Amino acid sequence: MAGQNLMQTVKPSPHLQGEVLLPGDKSISHRVAILDSLSQGKSTIKNFAPGRDCWHTVTCLKALGVPIQILKSQSTLSLSVSGRGRMGFREPRDVLYAGNSGTTMRLLSGLLAAQPFLSIITGDASLRGRPMSRLIEPLRLMGAEIWGREQDLLAPLVIRGRALHGAEIPLTIPSAQIKSAILLAGLFAQGNTVLYQSVKSRDHTERLLTAMGAKLDTDGNHLCLSPLTMPLSSISFRVPGDLSSAAYFLVAGAIHSNARITVRACGINPTRTGIIDALVAMGAKIQMRNERMEVGEPLADITVESSELRGIEMGGGIIPRIIDELPILAVAACVARGRTVIRGAGELRVKESDRIAAMLKELGKMGADIEELADGMIITGGKRLRGAKVDSHSDHRLAMSLAIAGLLATGETIINRAQVTQISYPAFWQELQRLVERA
Ligand code: S3P
Repeated sequence: MAGQNLMQTVKPSPHLQGEVLLPGDKSISHRVAILDSLSQGKSTIKNFAPGRDCWHTVTCLKALGVPIQILKSQSTLSLSVSGRGRMGFREPRDVLYAGNSGTTMRLLSGLLAAQPFLSIITGDASLRGRPMSRLIEPLRLMGAEIWGREQDLLAPLVIRGRALHGAEIPLTIPSAQIKSAILLAGLFAQGNTVLYQSVKSRDHTERLLTAMGAKLDTDGNHLCLSPLTMPLSSISFRVPGDLSSAAYFLVAGAIHSNARITVRACGINPTRTGIIDALVAMGAKIQMRNERMEVGEPLADITVESSELRGIEMGGGIIPRIIDELPILAVAACVARGRTVIRGAGELRVKESDRIAAMLKELGKMGADIEELADGMIITGGKRLRGAKVDSHSDHRLAMSLAIAGLLATGETIINRAQVTQISYPAFWQELQRLVERA
């Protein structure tokens, strides 16, 4: 990420007590901004994710002619979106820029494949290194004209929008970004779009589409989307807190010997709660209260207390439900008694950084015992971590995971390129500080 380098120092704290303010859920924020733009009518989205990733989605939608107003209050962000209807977007006058955000690039590409104009979309160096053939290939099955650099492997992507047709598409990678891109394209296709997912990934797009009046049938692992005959109805709502951001504090609370931390109004969509299941299986004391629903999305207040964790083995269907939380889970595993084995998580290698290699290297500097697997890692816990100079690899989830490791380590941990938390949790360092000071 461009801008001034931030070297953040983290020291062990005798207590961790209090409530943490969460940002709005990033995955839901991207989707609701896109779908409200496509709807007919005006909507207000409260507690919109404040990080750079969702900001890129908003900027791209504005470049496509969607009037979006940003309303800032003390600690939260709201959007007012004037939906343009089914075919109301205009050709962007310049290259669209998705920054570090895979969700922006992939979801918008599905939408743009069906618009009657040319779009080019690019991103930062990390995003331009991430695989795009997984997006291009299924969209082509629907008739899309979309190309990428290096024989359709990488972004920038060039999309000549055109009329699409429905297709039967097997999702070979359990990726919600690809599934959502296909569903967005399918809204405009002639005929039904049928998707087969052998493993279920996050389903926010499906829930929102249903709430907005699209015809989407689910039968086991099949999804069948009918093209839109009427515009989507706009929805206004308050985005739940982001469980992926809460995860840093849930782990901190569980592994610290004198902690009690609460997060409120946090999303607990079952396609995202792998981190809670894994922590509970490791012995974490986690309590959920006030479970409720907000436009088809479940949320709750969650409290965690100091716990004695033990290692676990994980793989298979839980992996897509915990994929973004595996770096912080690795930190929990370093502290837990015994071995933690993570398999079937090769996708970690194509995230904002190669998260297997990066965690191995950085936690290794702190004395962690981690064995690298092609698709995961084996962590032998129970060792005291020691403070070190570590690097975020410009990956927000690494920066925050290393910060929590630093809280438990002896001495000081200095995190290089710590400004990258701006991607998903701009207030992370302040929240961490508040938690330590309140103690
Ligand atoms: C996301 C899906 C996941 C996740 C990413 C956000 C989404 O990616 O890692 O941070 O909002 O759809 P994949 O769908 O590529 O697994």
